[in-house]
Formats: sequence, C-alpha cells, structure tokens
Amino acid sequence: AAIVEHSFNVQNLTVNRLCNRHVITAANGRLPGPSIRAREGDTLIIHVFNKSPYNLTIHWHGIHQMLSAWADGPDMITQCPIRPGNKYTYKFKIIKQEGTFWWHSHTSTLRATLYGAIIIRPRAGSSYPFPKPYREVPILLGEWWNGNVVDMANQALAHGTGPNISDAYTINGWPGDLYPCSQNQMYKLKVKQGKTYLLRITNAAVDNNLFYKIANHKMIVVAVDARYTNPYVTDVLVVASGQTIDVLLTADQPIGSYYMAARAYASAAGLEFDSTTTRGVIVYEGAPSWTSRTPLIPVLPAFNDTPTAHKFSTSLTALVGGPHWEPVPLKVDHKMFVTIGMALDVCPSNTTCQGPPVGAKLSASMNNVSFVPPSSLSLLQAFFFNVRGVYTTDFPVKPPVQFDYTNPSINGDRPLLFAPKGTRITKLKFNSTVEMVMQNTAIIGAENHPMHLHGFDFHVLAQGFGNFNPATDTLKYNLFNPQIRHTIGVPVGGWAVIRFVANNPGVWFMHCHFDGHLPIGLATAFVVENGPTPETTLPPPPVDLPQC
Ligand code: C2O
Repeated sequence: AAIVEHSFNVQNLTVNRLCNRHVITAANGRLPGPSIRAREGDTLIIHVFNKSPYNLTIHWHGIHQMLSAWADGPDMITQCPIRPGNKYTYKFKIIKQEGTFWWHSHTSTLRATLYGAIIIRPRAGSSYPFPKPYREVPILLGEWWNGNVVDMANQALAHGTGPNISDAYTINGWPGDLYPCSQNQMYKLKVKQGKTYLLRITNAAVDNNLFYKIANHKMIVVAVDARYTNPYVTDVLVVASGQTIDVLLTADQPIGSYYMAARAYASAAGLEFDSTTTRGVIVYEGAPSWTSRTPLIPVLPAFNDTPTAHKFSTSLTALVGGPHWEPVPLKVDHKMFVTIGMALDVCPSNTTCQGPPVGAKLSASMNNVSFVPPSSLSLLQAFFFNVRGVYTTDFPVKPPVQFDYTNPSINGDRPLLFAPKGTRITKLKFNSTVEMVMQNTAIIGAENHPMHLHGFDFHVLAQGFGNFNPATDTLKYNLFNPQIRHTIGVPVGGWAVIRFVANNPGVWFMHCHFDGHLPIGLATAFVVENGPTPETTLPPPPVDLPQC
C-alpha cells in the first residue's frame, strides 16, 4: 500500500461566474478543488494550510476513519477549527473501503466552494465487480451563490430565516448554458462511440437534493455511497445532498452531442428553492462541435415528482457477496425512534426575526432536541480526556411528544412547540448494533432530509410514507440485500429505518446534509466507547490538533 500525500492551500480565489467577478474560498486555486486518488489500503496525508480569512476544517465524506476519528473533521465535533494562518495535517488509512467519496469543508457554508472528489480504487490485483470501464469520470454536482456564502449564512441565522436561495447549480464547477453569460462555462465530456464510462457522481449541492439525467442514454447504477449494488438500469437518478452514485454509461447512441442536466427534487408545494437547471454536454468523437448543432435535451422529472424519486431510492439493493459487502446484523442492542423536524425558536430580543412565521426563528430538531455544538473543546476531546459538562449522554431514544403525521396539532412542527436546545448524544458500547427509525415530521418546509452518519455505513432496511407502524412496517424489512449507505433522504411525510454496528471508537456526527438545517440543530452524535484491545482503542490526538 502507498502513502498518498497532498497539500491544500485554502485561500481567496477570484472567478468569473454568471456575468460577474466573485471572490470565493478555494483550495489550490481550483473550483472544484483537487481530486484525491488512492487505492484501498493506502494512507492519505493531507496538509491543510488555512490562508483564508475563515475558521475551517475539512471532512472526508464517507471515509470511516477507523481508529482515526481525529481526522474526521466536523467542526467542534472531532476538532476545533483551523484558524486563519494555521495548518493541520489529516492522516488516515483507507480500510475496507473503495468507491466514490468526496471531501468538503465542515464549517459554516464554506463547502459551497471548498469541495472535491475522492476516488478510492480497489487494491492492486483486485477488480471491480463489473467489466472494466474505458475511462472513469468524476461528476460533482454543486450549488453557486452570487455573494459571500458565509455572510449570507450568518444573516439567515441572525434573522431566523431559511437558507438563502442559490443562483445556480453546477456540474464540475460550471453552471452551463441556461444561465446568463455561461454559454462557455459548461462542463464537456468527450466520449468515444461504443466505449463504457464509469461516472462517479456526487451531490455536493449545499441545500438541495437533485435529479440527474442524460439525453437518450440509459445509466446502470453499480454503487451508491461507495457500496456496490446490483446493477440497476435507469434513465434518471435522484441524488440526495451528500450521496454518491456510480453509474456505467455506454456511448451507444448515434455520433452527436447530448446534454446532461440536473435540477432540484423539492417535494413540497410552496417551498422556496432554486428551480434553475444546470447542463453539461457529452460530445461523441467525430461529432460537429456542440455549439454548431443543437444537442439533444433530457426531460427531467417535475420538481415534486416524489413517485419517481421514491421508486429510484427503493429499487437499489446491495451486491451480496461483492467486495466489502456485509450482512445485516440480526441482533439489535439499541432501538431508537427519532423524529426529524423543523420547529421554531424564540427570537432574541435585540433582533427582528423574519420567520416563518414573522417574529419567530426557524429551528430544527431530532426528537425535539435542537443540537448545539460545544464551544470550548470538541466532543471528541471531551470524550478522550474525560472532560465533564461538555455533553450529556441522555439523547431521548423515543420522541418526547407522540407524533402523528395526520394530526399536525401533536407533531414536532406544532408552532408552539419550541424544541429545547442541547448537546445531548447517545453513548454506545463498542460493537453494539443500533436500529434507528427516522420519522420525517417536517411540515414547515417539507422536504426529504438527507441524513448523513459519520464513521459508519448503515443498512437501509425499509422506507415508506405516513406514520411508521411497527406492527406492519417491520414486516417489510429487507434483511437479505438492503442497500448500504452513509446518507439517506428520509422521505417527506415518511420514514426510513437503518441499522449499523458501532465498531469504531470515537464521536460520530449524524446530521441533515443541508447546510441550512445543520446550524439550526438538525443533528446529534454517537459516542462509541473503546473496545477491549489496543487494536480497538482510539489513539491519542495528533500533536498538531487545533486548539480552541
Ligand atoms: Cu458531508 Cu458531516 O458531512
């Protein structure tokens, strides 16, 4: 196995987008930032130099960080941020994982421009469980704002409103020709007729789930969240924020140009969101250049096409017996029922809150606890050094208020139900199994919440609509070949059930991957105790771990 070393210089970068010059925060002068390529078993060493004016951390999204929790990256969960002018070296080994991952900043909304691909290929001598593709292509779907993303996020927090609506979606950093001044700012992929390409697709958008489609071409899904699936043929993908999907694309159409396109899947009527569309173009070798001839255009589903989204999300199954496949743990030690909801918060007396409703602050919660990170040292430091008073381990296993989707007066969105703030998390014994039913109670701003778990992948046993009913819905669990993921879009007005084994000591964040929902409390964390041997004990922090 090799050592793969990178330096990320994070600093201001001036770019032209949507008719104007903008100063953004970027790594190594690129948007998206540098790609990391390695193989299973390699050790990654990434030196992050913070030459930006902001506090920052970097998270390696989807990488388990087995016994290397100090390198995970979420701000105040596993580390204090790297202050401007300082550096931190992230060092971790890729253990029993391969596929498409990505890295992004895990402070404020900096990840809008501070993100990139991580491609982990099989060990030398191992191969994919599908025919070797001719070429591999990272496709990062992103979101763009004309304006300073940190200032906008701070303002939204101060005024208690939802996140600022973006000005564009992007493919590999480019908005594409449907936006002003963007005719030549479009991602282009050249292909050879007859060849098969592995598209490694990531939804790096900040506040939106996306539909993705290519004109006239079918795609074969072969992996989700870096876990191999049974091949699934589709003409449209639904990618929740934070998810990755690998597809095989065969250039089997007549020589020509074909658009790819992505736009929001936003399930609720009346929800305000960026309804624009980003496009890129696939140009066959030998085709006239795309400007000279109109490429074929894919027809995307309607924004609120929940049946299409649900069909896609529930049709995927794990490749049983494939590389890194793991069977569903059958013995459950810790059963949780967790409501995921938007709530309201009291407006501070010195500000005007713009709601909704006006005069209140938008807030979010899990089991009616609105998560607040600590401020003086990270949860992981508190765990490792046994510091009391930083968190409590009494996260409610069941919601304190009974939830009924059909009766808004007793659900987590009841306008007068202000979710209390807290740093309440769940303590788990090493190797214990957790089953979590997540019930999406959101009625204000109803949308699929992309719930992401750090440190582990989970089996998705079932998902559905309405109130979760233990009597009937547990019978629907797929215990044979459920998809394995690290991020799940919990259906609007519905639920999802996940199961995972807590085999990695440390503190692991779980949160909604919308940056608008994380800082208002849609989060919790698990603290997993050390195992019985030195090989299952978290080592001490690296000497250069940033201090608060
Ligand atoms: Cu991609 Cu906690 O995040």
